[in-house]
Amino acid sequence: MKSLTVLDPQSPEARAIYHLAIVSGIIFGLIFIIVAGMIVFALMRYRWREGAADPNQLAGSKTVEIVWTLIPCLIVVALFLLTWQTMGASDPPAPATPDIVITGHQWWWEARYPKSGVVTANEIHIPAGTPMAVQLESADVLHEFWVAQLTRKMATVPDHPNHIWIQSDQPGTYLGVCSEFCGTQHAWMHFLVVAETPEQFAAWEKAQLAPAKIPASGSAAQGLALFQEHSCMNCHAINGTAAAARIGPDLTHFASRKILGAGVVENTPANLRRWLTDPQQIKPGVKMPDYKFSEAQVSQLADYFETLQ
Ligand code: CUA
Repeated sequence: MKSLTVLDPQSPEARAIYHLAIVSGIIFGLIFIIVAGMIVFALMRYRWREGAADPNQLAGSKTVEIVWTLIPCLIVVALFLLTWQTMGASDPPAPATPDIVITGHQWWWEARYPKSGVVTANEIHIPAGTPMAVQLESADVLHEFWVAQLTRKMATVPDHPNHIWIQSDQPGTYLGVCSEFCGTQHAWMHFLVVAETPEQFAAWEKAQLAPAKIPASGSAAQGLALFQEHSCMNCHAINGTAAAARIGPDLTHFASRKILGAGVVENTPANLRRWLTDPQQIKPGVKMPDYKFSEAQVSQLADYFETLQ
């Protein structure tokens, strides 16, 4: 289930934030009802009437002054304590070594797992039930990492790593977004967080670590040759080939991912062909240029990328 709702928290961190929002909402609601109620009461009870005498005039009352100073002070103190408690629960201290380093790019996300060496893009896998320490970085401008059901928001700042915890109670797929305006395609900077059982997660990591298979012949082999002849290698990496650049998403296991162009379309063979034909048509402003490949070339490249499971 993919959703951006904060009303269905799926981790201890998100639940703490949700509870704070609900309790604060109730307090603000009560304040509104009491204040608005008193105004309405005063309007009805003390309105001017033909022939009626003025109501009792009251000037200066120490008791009233103390009461209306003390009550707001107590409310602020209570909200402060609740917030403090939530901050402790939603933002525990960062460990020395992160489990995942996530880098915001215009307009996609890179995820590196320093402990295993896995590198992927726009699809972050985690083992359900285990808190994962995330270090957030930016390759260019300010972005903001947000998975509404699992975490608080956190900005990615160039040259200033930030930290956050990500955790999911149970296996599931959760939608993440960039929530800081970062340029033309800010709206299409989505990502998925895939929480799996520890066994599934271990299997995923193992599969992601394997180098890409080199097709021996046929259309896919021609696609790989095209990939290496053109400037694709200046931006992308495919483990097992000479391509090792980090400008664009790592494509080693591209075909195992569910979304293309940071969520702008699903990763299907048809969409991949459209993307290779002209990425600007699908995601205007994307850093990948239109190479004006022929239909045959698009097919060869797509056939190759489909082997990158
Ligand atoms: Cu990245 Cu908005």
